[in-house]
Amino acid sequence: MNNRIYFDNAATTSLDKEVLDAMMPYLTTHFGNPSSIYSYGRETRLAVENARKAVAKILNAHPAEIFFTSGGTESSNTAITAAVRDLGCKHMITSPIEHHATMHTTEHLHDTGEAKLSLVKLLPNGHVDLENLEELLASITEKTLVTLLHANNEIGNILDIHVVGEICKKYNAIFHCDTVQTVGHYPFNLKETPVHFITSAGHKFHGPKGVGILYINEDVKIKPFINGGSQERNMRAGTENVYGIVGFAKALQMATDNYEKESTYIQELKKYMYDQLIAEIPGVRFHGDVLGNSLYTVLNVGFPKSEKSDMLLFNLDINNICVSGGSACTSGANQGSHVIKAVYPAEDTDSVRFSFSKENTKEEIDIVVEKLKEII
Ligand SMILES: Cc1ncc(COP(=O)(O)O)c(C=O)c1O
Repeated sequence: MNNRIYFDNAATTSLDKEVLDAMMPYLTTHFGNPSSIYSYGRETRLAVENARKAVAKILNAHPAEIFFTSGGTESSNTAITAAVRDLGCKHMITSPIEHHATMHTTEHLHDTGEAKLSLVKLLPNGHVDLENLEELLASITEKTLVTLLHANNEIGNILDIHVVGEICKKYNAIFHCDTVQTVGHYPFNLKETPVHFITSAGHKFHGPKGVGILYINEDVKIKPFINGGSQERNMRAGTENVYGIVGFAKALQMATDNYEKESTYIQELKKYMYDQLIAEIPGVRFHGDVLGNSLYTVLNVGFPKSEKSDMLLFNLDINNICVSGGSACTSGANQGSHVIKAVYPAEDTDSVRFSFSKENTKEEIDIVVEKLKEII
C-alpha cells in the first residue's frame, strides 16, 4: 500500500536506498566474521573500523570513544548501569519525561537499592528546570549520575547539553544524555561538549534498525554490560552487526552532508502544519516549546475531545494516516503518554505526535488536516 501518509518519523524512518546499497555487500558476499583472521574476516573488520572512524569524525570524537550497540535502549542501559556499578554513582537525577529506556533503567537500579533516584522539576513548557537541577546537585552529597534527554521524543523540547554538562562538571557528576532524537539531525562536536555518555540509533535518520552507538568519553572507564567475546575492544560482546554498522555510518554521513537542506525543509513542514491546524481546527493546542527550542521534526498537538476524537489514532489509521500518541512503544494501546501527563496534568485533550522527514510534503499535510477536520 503506497497511498499511506507516514508522519511518525520520531518512531522510526524508512531505510534510504543509498544506505541499503552500502549495506548489501555485507548481507551477501562479504559475510565473514570480523573476528576471523583470514581474508573474509579482514574485509568485514575493515568495514567496521572504517565505519567507526567515519562516525567519530562526524561527531568530532575519537574512534576509541565510539562503541557499536543494538541501539538507543542498549546504549542507555549500558551507560546508566555502568555509572552506578562502575563509576560509584549512588544517586541518579533524571526527569519525569524521559524515554522508557532511561526511566525503567533508573527505576530498576532504584528498586534494587543500588542508587537513589531524584526527579528534576519541569518548567510549564516542559523544559527541565535547570535551577532545580543545580539545587538538587548542591543538596546531594553522594556521587551522582545526571541522565537527561537531549531532545524529548514526544514533545520535541531540546535541552542545552552544554549548560547541563557545565552544571554537572561543577558538581563532579556523571552526565549521560540520550541523544537518540538529535544524532543525525543536528551537528555534534563531542570534543567541545562536556558529556560522559551519549547514545544514538540508526533507524531515526534513515539507517537500519537494531544498530546504534554508545559514545563513552575517553576519561571514563567502565565494565562491559554484555559479557562474552572480546568484540568492541572488550566492551560489547557478540558478533558485530556488520551490515547494520556499515548502514549506520552511511546514514549518518548522508544526514550530515544534507543537514542544512533537509532541516530547513522539515522545519518548514512543521511550521506549515502548525499554521494550518491553527487556521482550521478551533481549540487546538500545542505541547512543548513548539516554535522555540524544539526538534524541527516533531509537532505534538492536543485536540479538543469529541465523541470521534476518542478514537482519533484509530480513525487516522483507517484513513491511511500513520501517527502516534506518544513514543512508539505506547502508541498501539494509546494509554496516554507519561510525558503529556507530567507536563500538562490538568489538560483534557487527545494528544497526537506528528513527526516529519525529508520524504513528507505539504500536500500530505493538507490531506491530514482535512481528515482531522472531518474527525474532530
Ligand atoms: C529518545 C529515545 N531514546 C531511546 C530510544 C530507543 O531506541 P531503540 O528503540 O533504537 O533502542 C528511542 C526510540 O524510540 C528514543 O526516541
